[in-house]
Amino acid sequence: MLLKKLPLLAALFAATAAFSSSSQASERTRDQINDGWKFALGHATDKQKDFGHGLGYFSYLAKTGFGDGAASPSFDDRAWREISIPHDWAVEAEFSPDASYSHGFKAIGPGFPESSVGWYRRELDISEDDLGKRIRIEFDGIYRDAAVFVNGFFVGQEPSGFVSQSYDITEYLNYGGKNVVAVRADAYMEEGWYYEGAGIYRHAYLLKTAPVHVARYGTYVTTEVEKNKAAVSVETKVANDSDSAATVSVFQSILDNKGKEVAKAESLSIEVGAGKSGVVSQDLMLKKPKLWDLDSPNLYTMLTQVKDSEGELIDEYRTSFGVRTIRFDPNEGFFLNGRSVKLKGSNNHQDHAGVGAAMSDAMQDFRIKALKDMGSNAYRVSHHHASPALLESCDRLGMLVIDETRLMGINEYHFDQLEHLILRDRNHPSVIVWSVGNEEWGIEGNIFGARIAKRMQDFVHRLDPTRVVTAAVSGGWGGISSTIEAFGVNYIKHGDVDQQHEDYPDQIIIGTEETTTQQTRGIYFEDAALAHQHPKENGSSGGNAELGWKFYDERDYTAGVFFWTGFDYRGEPTPYEWPAVLSQFGILDNCGFPKDGYYYLKSWWSDEPVLHIFPHWNWPGKEGETIEVRAHSNYEEVELFVNGESQGRKEMPHNGHLAWDVEYAPGELLAKGYTDGKVVAEKRVRTTGESAAFALEPDRSEIKANGQDISVITLSVLDERGDVVPTADDLAFFTIEGPGEIIGVGNGNPSSLEPDQYNESVEKIKVGEWVGPKASITDQPVVFETTFDSPELEKGQSARMLLNPVGKDLKLTLNGKLLDNALFDEAVPVESLDLKASGNVLKMEAMPFDEWGAREDVQTLSPLAFAITTPAEQYKRKAFNGLAQIIVQSTGEAGEIVLKAEGEGLEAVSLIISAH
Ligand code: GAL
Repeated sequence: MLLKKLPLLAALFAATAAFSSSSQASERTRDQINDGWKFALGHATDKQKDFGHGLGYFSYLAKTGFGDGAASPSFDDRAWREISIPHDWAVEAEFSPDASYSHGFKAIGPGFPESSVGWYRRELDISEDDLGKRIRIEFDGIYRDAAVFVNGFFVGQEPSGFVSQSYDITEYLNYGGKNVVAVRADAYMEEGWYYEGAGIYRHAYLLKTAPVHVARYGTYVTTEVEKNKAAVSVETKVANDSDSAATVSVFQSILDNKGKEVAKAESLSIEVGAGKSGVVSQDLMLKKPKLWDLDSPNLYTMLTQVKDSEGELIDEYRTSFGVRTIRFDPNEGFFLNGRSVKLKGSNNHQDHAGVGAAMSDAMQDFRIKALKDMGSNAYRVSHHHASPALLESCDRLGMLVIDETRLMGINEYHFDQLEHLILRDRNHPSVIVWSVGNEEWGIEGNIFGARIAKRMQDFVHRLDPTRVVTAAVSGGWGGISSTIEAFGVNYIKHGDVDQQHEDYPDQIIIGTEETTTQQTRGIYFEDAALAHQHPKENGSSGGNAELGWKFYDERDYTAGVFFWTGFDYRGEPTPYEWPAVLSQFGILDNCGFPKDGYYYLKSWWSDEPVLHIFPHWNWPGKEGETIEVRAHSNYEEVELFVNGESQGRKEMPHNGHLAWDVEYAPGELLAKGYTDGKVVAEKRVRTTGESAAFALEPDRSEIKANGQDISVITLSVLDERGDVVPTADDLAFFTIEGPGEIIGVGNGNPSSLEPDQYNESVEKIKVGEWVGPKASITDQPVVFETTFDSPELEKGQSARMLLNPVGKDLKLTLNGKLLDNALFDEAVPVESLDLKASGNVLKMEAMPFDEWGAREDVQTLSPLAFAITTPAEQYKRKAFNGLAQIIVQSTGEAGEIVLKAEGEGLEAVSLIISAH
């Protein structure tokens, strides 16, 4: 039911209760459940090794609540690793030449069934007071094909690794008792052709609401700016999950970024039938709105309150939104807030050095800031649904986004995902374009593509008429390109863009992909065996950053360009094979260290002065040879000096670069930047000495003590004068003290097979197995007795004893001594037990469980096992061309984190990060 706010209806239905801004507490809570998970690898093809899951006579698909093996709430996960999410087990895996090229040779996926399934288990906190609420478990994204179980109930499965999930679990819960969620993620099959990670790599939440509540993604806020005010409309979908009809009033108010109410709407009442939902539309007027813009990404919150017929607050829902106008013109390009803005964009996948796909919110910010620092204003999420955290970061920091669905098609599989994407993301001011597909080679150039794109586009417009729709096309022009509203050009080499504009004058044109100047950071001569690539004049998809930018900048009718890619990513190491594990399309490497092409784009994209010269000046053996020195700069003129001698002063061409052929002699390159004929900037590059010391520099030296915030730290190798040695590959060892932990390391070297992470591991050793009595026998005592040796431990290892009861009324003895039955609930550190090196005797005497017949899972069990924990190895990483990256995360407590880097023959260094 859509109830438009007409005066008559408003009078009829307006609630009498006075508007109160949230003096009562709403029943809605949405708590992040990122901590407290247990994790272990299962198996993609062997059910025994997959913790016996799916082996029951009746499977979980046969009888509800029959989730077995690790999906069962009684499963013993005491020997699983404790982790928090976001978590990506692919990044933990070793590299293997037999693994997937497109996924960066990490040993998971096809051919690696033993490392392709990950299990996660966690208890949920559900009190007796929660009875009567609706309770859902929500995941922002799990890679992939995640089956979710709560207390053994199968609650759903999502094939895509990029779609957010939400499951109603209200009826399956033990209120005031123990509740267990289990997730089986299966990354055996790949979805994309690039590294995608594995596991619960985005946030998870426990959502509790009243039975009548704002529906999932239940608000849609749109704005229209008129001079000094903005008309804000909000549609709210109210879901009634109770068993009787409900009349509720919906209140709206707008809060500014300090939480102050700046506008409110008259309340509207709505009657929603049991099991039904209804929609109310309300309008608000915002005076002197602060617009959302690239440099001032101002956000508002729509506070939606739902009150019952007694005037009691039952739900409070917050929608972050921005007031801004966007317009695409087929002849003049893109306009933001009425101002022409060329899209200076990059495509990006979702992985970073060290952490893979498991990116914390702070890491999202780090990456978006790095792109913004270059002068970039746009980001294409290739090729899947954005992570909510990424969009929040783009909203917060001011970055325009193309948000994309994974697969083209017109069936439920495709439309459900597309609908989901739009309903979830349409309130984000950063999102300006929906992309319905990328390089669909089977259809892009033919009639199928023309039809499918049109159908998807119409579908999108019904859900969100405020944004345009694109699809990115490579070689196949003539299909999708004939029906799509905003034609996405993947690489100008594939067709005649001007001709397309002439043939389709009403079509918007966006450069959805274009070649960067491909390069390995800091490399100037190719070494194919190491996958080291010098800056390419003609990259694998044709051209380079300069050609691409000039093309789009010269054509006002185009909205702009998105380079492939902003950051290097794992997989697709074109044009190399193993041991190349990273792509090198990035303007920045996979740590975010800029390559030379970064300075080209920064020169012409940002307003900041840039003066960058390259290559470095360490070329022993090349004395007397000619080396080309280039300058990326936006100064009017640049003059180059080699060892004090001028090589000429040259005028910088608009959107261009400068180059000098000079004779190499060790010493110093000096560039001078001129404005109005005067020297206003200088940049020196010196031949360095040997590696002498390490330096550490954080992106932020103060972080929040919240267990999630990070500091991204650069390790540099310096010579005695303090210059970064541009060829240094020294190995650094890291130690950390205080409330911080290292969660990953990287260096941007595309052929480095060093681990990204060092994690502790836990192994379970069973001491014999035991088969219980037949289901029919319940009145005869059972006895289990075993003789065992103390586990042999290697240095640093620790052991815990795991006991499983073989029946009820149990008497437990160890070496003749009676033990407390509470030990069954724990993983008991062996040092707390008085164990002998060998010949220990453990005995359990019990009566069979009553429910024995129904408990197939305990008919064969290990009454005694050990969990052996091997601690993580010390973190270490080689520098690559002088640099490496260390990512340090808060453990949750406040205090000083001290990170130390040391290595052979180099001066060690310490850094303090304060967490508060
Ligand atoms: C494009 C494709 C990207 C990536 C790139 C590598 O054709 O859309 O996903 O594969 O090529 O060059």
